[in-house]
Amino acid sequence: MTIILKISRNSPERALIKQAALIIKEGGLVAFPTETVYGLGADALNAKAVEKIFAAKGRPADNPLIVHIADRKDVYKFVKEVPKEAELLMKKFWPGPLTMVLKKKDIIPDIVTCGLGTVAVRMPSHRVALALIKEAGTPIAAPSANLSGRPSPTDASHVIEDLLGRVDVIIDSGKAYIGVESTVIDLTVEPPLILRPGGLPLEEIEKFLKNVGKEEKSDKPKSPGMKYTHYSPNAEVIVVEGYRGGVMKKVQEIVDEERQKGRKVGVMAVVKGHKFDADIVKFIGSTEKEVAKRLFRALRDFDKEDIQVIIAEGVEEKGLGLAVMNRLRKAAGYNIVEVK
Ligand code: TXA
Ligand code: MG
Repeated sequence: MTIILKISRNSPERALIKQAALIIKEGGLVAFPTETVYGLGADALNAKAVEKIFAAKGRPADNPLIVHIADRKDVYKFVKEVPKEAELLMKKFWPGPLTMVLKKKDIIPDIVTCGLGTVAVRMPSHRVALALIKEAGTPIAAPSANLSGRPSPTDASHVIEDLLGRVDVIIDSGKAYIGVESTVIDLTVEPPLILRPGGLPLEEIEKFLKNVGKEEKSDKPKSPGMKYTHYSPNAEVIVVEGYRGGVMKKVQEIVDEERQKGRKVGVMAVVKGHKFDADIVKFIGSTEKEVAKRLFRALRDFDKEDIQVIIAEGVEEKGLGLAVMNRLRKAAGYNIVEVK
């Protein structure tokens, strides 16, 4: 049975946090909000508890988890070395949507890192997440709180859809603030390497680190988790990107082709003033920030409306746009139409 706890995101109720933290201490599973997406948490130092995360999500056993802490200093308890660059990033961006991969100490069970010698650590900024970790008195291992392969949950209702009956507690604190997962950066290599673009824009990191490696469009996935089908709604997704002036026409062409095949077609639009004739048209915002916030929700909503094909307009790869395009292209299984 799953208990749902409504907790205020601005002033988390102490008694409710205690109730959820007790479940963590006892080796149970608690889904909780973070500023990026909801996470599915367990005591990171309890291998048995962490095992339950993999089972509840149906997560492949070779995809390691992020360890969440509530105090910057705690990073030293769990990693062997904190390079200068990591110190700097911690100071500038924690708490926040940045995950750092560092060399792990033995105290972190192998199941958390899938046997890797490194561990991913993040200090979230969401008050409920911080309160829960503090009260539990232990770091919390947490992947996104979706069934493996589904779009990440940006609202408690998404967690309920995927995990009701599979976890002990689901905390409901309303919508996540950012909407895409944290940026993951590997600081065990020189220069530091972005493994996953995310909620902290690359441009922000580049203000402090001059030399940062990043995954190219054509590269093999670098982060273990990035090789799996991801973020996929049931519907097929086609991304149309490239020359802005030509995107609207191309999207409509594809919509018409798909409808001629008798399929129910949805359009995910990101340009104000673009008009489409389709079964459902969702305008999810025009700034990269708005689109990031609504992307995963829109993918889930199209499924609820029985859309069979989603034609999505691309955004510019600046700011959160880099993470948005990374998720969209994956959701599309790299089914991309480029307009010249
Ligand atoms: O915003 C987020 O990061 C959310 C919230 C809940 O914190 N969490 C999240 O976790 O997105 P997850 O498990 O869905 O994604 C974690 C990513 C995966 O791509 C995984 O492969 C990578 O981080 N990762 C974890 N540990 C790693 C390690 N030691 N080395 C390289 N990549 C690692
Ligand atoms: Mg995930």
